[in-house]
Parts: sequence; C-alpha cells; structure tokens
Amino acid sequence: MSHFLDINKTDPAALREMVNSAHAMKTARKGLPKGAPDAGAPLAGRMIALIFEKPSTRTRVSFDVGARQMGGQTMVLSGKEMQLGHGESIADTARVLSRYVDLIMLRTFEEATLLEMAEHATVPVINGLTDASHPCQIMADIVTYEEHRGPIGGRRFVWSGDGNNVCSSWLHAAGQFGFDLSFTGPETLDPDPRAVAFARQKGATVDIRRDPLEAAIGADAIVTDTWVSMHDPESARERRHNQLRPYQVNETMMARAKPDALFMHCLPAHRNEEATDAVMDGPQSVIFDESENRLHAQKAILRWCLGV
Ligand code: CP
Repeated sequence: MSHFLDINKTDPAALREMVNSAHAMKTARKGLPKGAPDAGAPLAGRMIALIFEKPSTRTRVSFDVGARQMGGQTMVLSGKEMQLGHGESIADTARVLSRYVDLIMLRTFEEATLLEMAEHATVPVINGLTDASHPCQIMADIVTYEEHRGPIGGRRFVWSGDGNNVCSSWLHAAGQFGFDLSFTGPETLDPDPRAVAFARQKGATVDIRRDPLEAAIGADAIVTDTWVSMHDPESARERRHNQLRPYQVNETMMARAKPDALFMHCLPAHRNEEATDAVMDGPQSVIFDESENRLHAQKAILRWCLGV
C-alpha cells in the first residue's frame, strides 16, 4: 500500500521520481486548455475522495482538477457533513470509504486522525495537511525551486517566522533532498524538534537563528507562512503578531540573500504581515508558481500512490 503520509516517511528515490514526474507532466501539458485530458488517461476508472475538515482553496481545486485531467473521477467531501463529524469512528469511515473509492485524500487537524485513516483504509491515503505537516505543499515547492534554479541539493533555505506544520515538511524535505535550512523566529515558536532531528540525522545542516537579517545572508531562498495557522487559537493572534513582526520578509531581508534568491510562500497570505507586497509581487517571488505546481506535484503523487 503506497500511502503518502509525510516526506520523512517516503523513500527518497520515490520522492525524486515524483518530482521528476511532476516536471515531465507539466511540460507535456504546455499550451493545453486546463480541462483537456492528459495522454493515456492514467487514472481512468479511478474514483478519488477528497475530504476536508479545514478550509482549502489550492489543495481542493488542484487535486480535483489534477485527478480529472488524468481521467479520474472525484468527490469533494466536508468532514462536518459526513458521519465522521457526528461520531462515526475514523476506522469505520476508512473501511467504508475503501469499499467505494480507490484513494482517499484527507485534510484534518490531528496527525493521529490521518494515521488512523491510513491504518484502516485498504486504499492509499494522502496527507492533504494536518496540524503537524503539509507534505504535498513542499513537493510542489521543490518542483518550483528546481524549475527556476536547478537542483535543490546543497542549497540553503531560510524559514522566517513560525516553526509550524509547513516548516516541519520543509525540514523533512531538507533531510530527504539534501539541502540545508536555517530557521529564524522567536524561541517560543521553534520548529518541531523531531523534524529538526530527522533533517540533521539525514545529514542536512539545520540551524536556529534569532536574528533574521543575519540568517538571511547568502540564502538561496527565503520562505515564510502566515503568523496564525488554521489550528492556532484566535486568542493567540495579538501575541503572535507582536512576536513575529521582526521576522517579516521585506526588501531589507531579501537584500541580504543571494541576488538570485527566491521568495516562497505556500499561500494564503496575510499581505504586509508576514511578507510585504513589494516582496510578494517582486521579481524574486514565485508564489503563484508554487500554487500552480500543487497541480503537477499532486498528479505525480496520485500516480505513485496508485502505481499507474
Ligand atoms: N497552501 C494551501 O494548502 O492552500 P489551501 O489551504 O488553500 O489548500
């Protein structure tokens, strides 16, 4: 069973195969209308369930469009409207859905929910984001970095801000793809130590720096995310803003990085909070390519999971 649960749980050769496949599928679609089918319709006859317990624009639309381009059929389900949101167990939901569909993509809160779904499903399960990680996003981001700047191995990325679930997936990727990552942010929002340990154990250099301008010196890319994630309580908003303001990605910070450094953000953004308009809309920004590449990367993930 090829579940795609996390970058640190997936074989590095398989991850590289998926990134290369995404590049190839993107190239093959150049000039085609968005709804035109891919050659060979590799997902013909396959039914995909996309379950969301949290809001989504990019993940929802890119999985739906990607599966349809490959000839598959999709159903988008809201956790709240399913019996899942009214007391039915994850295990029973997994067993039932496995009788109807060929693959389950789940966006949920706790990582344990995803793992329980994968344990009891008899079809592949994909992590569409949990409070702990966001692997599909980082696969798309690696596709994006490489299409602009070539191989990611040996580069140094700087993550500025909250050491959240997206940061954890970047750390997993640093270990699996062989690049270094400097985290800069307040101590109370340091990244998950398990993700840091994984990257280091795989040979990546990971350092924690409190001075954002010092951290940015010589970076190949600067990455950030919203200051308040979907799983953070609203009551934490003011404190987080005060803590994270020094870590805003602005023109001063970008000027410390390499002249050809990229600016990356998974979106949605709160403009002029974690990053300024000048950076988000500037020449080094690849934020909308990241969004587009969700489509191509996830098509590669779907094919890998289904072995087609
Ligand atoms: N980046 C991302 O996962 O976007 P959505 O929340 O819109 O899916």
